[in-house]
Amino acid sequence: MSASTFSVVILLGTFARVVTSSADACASFGSRLSIPKTALIAHEYHPNGTSIPLPGTAPSCGGPDLHATATASICRLVLATKTSPSSKLQIEAWLPDEQNWNANLLFTGNGGIGGCIDYATMQNGVAGLGRGGFAAFGTNAGHNGSVGHELFLNRPEAINDFGHRAVHVEAEVGKEIARQYYDRTGKAARKNYYAGCSTGGRQGFQNAQMHPQDFDGMLLGSPGVDWLHVVASKGILARRIGWPDLNSPAYVRPEQWGGIVEAQVKQFDALDGVEDGIIDEPTTHRFDPTILACGTGVLNASLCLTPQQVESVRRAYEPIASSSGEIVYPAFELGSRTDVFSENQENGTARMGYTILQDFWRGAVYNDTDWTPESFSEADMDFAVGINPGLVNSAEKDLSSFYQRGGKIISYHGRTDETVTSANSEQFFTGVQSALDLTLEDIHSFYRLFFLPGMHHCSGGLGAWSIGNAMKYPYDKALLDPKYNALAALVEWVENDVPPETLIGTKYKDDIVGGRILAQRTHCPYPLVSKWDGGNDTKLATSWECRMPL
Ligand SMILES: *[C@@H]1O[C@H](CO)[C@@H](O)[C@H](O)[C@H]1NC(C)=O
Ligand SMILES: *[C@@H]1O[C@H](CO)[C@@H](O)[C@H](O)[C@H]1NC(C)=O
Ligand SMILES: *[C@@H]1O[C@H](CO)[C@@H](O)[C@H](O)[C@H]1NC(C)=O
Ligand SMILES: *[C@@H]1O[C@H](CO)[C@@H](O)[C@H](O)[C@H]1NC(C)=O
Ligand SMILES: *[C@@H]1O[C@H](CO)[C@@H](O)[C@H](O)[C@H]1NC(C)=O
Repeated sequence: MSASTFSVVILLGTFARVVTSSADACASFGSRLSIPKTALIAHEYHPNGTSIPLPGTAPSCGGPDLHATATASICRLVLATKTSPSSKLQIEAWLPDEQNWNANLLFTGNGGIGGCIDYATMQNGVAGLGRGGFAAFGTNAGHNGSVGHELFLNRPEAINDFGHRAVHVEAEVGKEIARQYYDRTGKAARKNYYAGCSTGGRQGFQNAQMHPQDFDGMLLGSPGVDWLHVVASKGILARRIGWPDLNSPAYVRPEQWGGIVEAQVKQFDALDGVEDGIIDEPTTHRFDPTILACGTGVLNASLCLTPQQVESVRRAYEPIASSSGEIVYPAFELGSRTDVFSENQENGTARMGYTILQDFWRGAVYNDTDWTPESFSEADMDFAVGINPGLVNSAEKDLSSFYQRGGKIISYHGRTDETVTSANSEQFFTGVQSALDLTLEDIHSFYRLFFLPGMHHCSGGLGAWSIGNAMKYPYDKALLDPKYNALAALVEWVENDVPPETLIGTKYKDDIVGGRILAQRTHCPYPLVSKWDGGNDTKLATSWECRMPL
């Protein structure tokens, strides 16, 4: 019998109080829990450090052998909430013992086309920031798995869950679970937080607009707002470089792109004052690919660009326009890996490696299992935006209700993001500012956007990118301070009214968070930029300062 499965009766004067262990509370919670439209599928107590098997996990989410380590002693619940007669969300709740609970809730979103529960952020959540852990929640966004058009085909309500409903339902159900579970302790939840990256960032901004009361603080990474344009852009760019005709003189072959991106870094890296392989502000440069033409000697005979290829590369770095010529999505980032649009072949046969486009257009846009993106055009993009399946594209900038109720948003975006171009975040931020007619000081009082030079999509890259990023487990336990950890900074802002003036990012050896620190850098809330002081060690955060661009 384990030490955690007993109850003791403490006699205090004339009344007796039953102190139930958390394990017992968890065991009996199954029969006590009552939430409309919600069925309890499983509930079990997991002591800190034990392994949680997740056999129901879809293969594309890492199942069925996936395990998650309990990062605190938790009561874990798995629930199914009906969101319509034909749809349901799977929701997970990880509830720390009350003495280890920081009295806050942390909700999480999804990535890609959803369908995978964000266990990494839940693990960071219950492990906490040093003074107890969050009660953490996750959802499958209404379907299991992250590849395949079947997830959406003839399932309009599953599309609604993924498009706009999952996070709000997760919030409502999660708050009720926490209320009922901790009720016996006399402790109530104080604040509600959300953390997500990529699609999770999109879900967060959308939720702030549609359901401003759900969360007090939101950590929104590399957000895929304007999601249909984000996804469609890969098809448009692939077509601009000659795909799917791999033998066309205009087609730029996968092996050529390394040299093209390298040339960009060589040309622009030093302009930000530090030669570190990182283009700090890629949106401020224009790249002329004629320098890579055959005959210039920059690329050798097997990699240099023919005149048609020069034109293809030039077009690859132009913004995306609709059929009517209106610019609808910013240009691809200079200095970023290009494989999302340039590596669409297998054994010499054209095939899109970025599967989200085909899956979503087949299942949710065209209802056609034979559709392929090989003739993808602006018209296919415009058509999808026109029907906006499940309201997935909501890029609504009116966050006035969230602003007025005192909600806080910390957003971050890597400057070498190959999946969601960081200029999208720049435009969204300035769009919110003008929609609400706010001064910089006003918008910074509730929404701060930090660009992280040299970070790929959500994590990874040459830069000092680690700031307690959502979906990245574990956080560095030595750097849980608001100076270094964005979730801690958010809590500090929401609960103590101290906004993050800067966030210090850390670069670890081999990108292993918590490993040997190679460098740190001070990051700044946009439009301020992080600049080297010009004299001290570039590996030290103190050598970087925030400046308004000239
Ligand atoms: C997702 O998988 C779980 C098993 O882990 C199952 O109970 C549930 O019905 C599935 N949901 C959908 C929408 O297929
Ligand atoms: C999708 O196509 C199938 C086969 O043509 C049809 O039976 C079904 O009703 C269509 N679904 C929708 C949502 O249009
Ligand atoms: C061209 O350059 C690439 C990359 O530097 C190299 O791998 C390749 O062997 C070179 N090819 C020729 C023909 O020199
Ligand atoms: C490409 O080749 C590999 C290895 O021979 C094979 O497993 C794969 O199915 C092939 N792909 C296509 C699209 O033919
Ligand atoms: C280097 O750091 C020192 C100590 O913080 C500071 O006084 C000095 O101004 C810095 N040098 C430059 C060039 O900014």
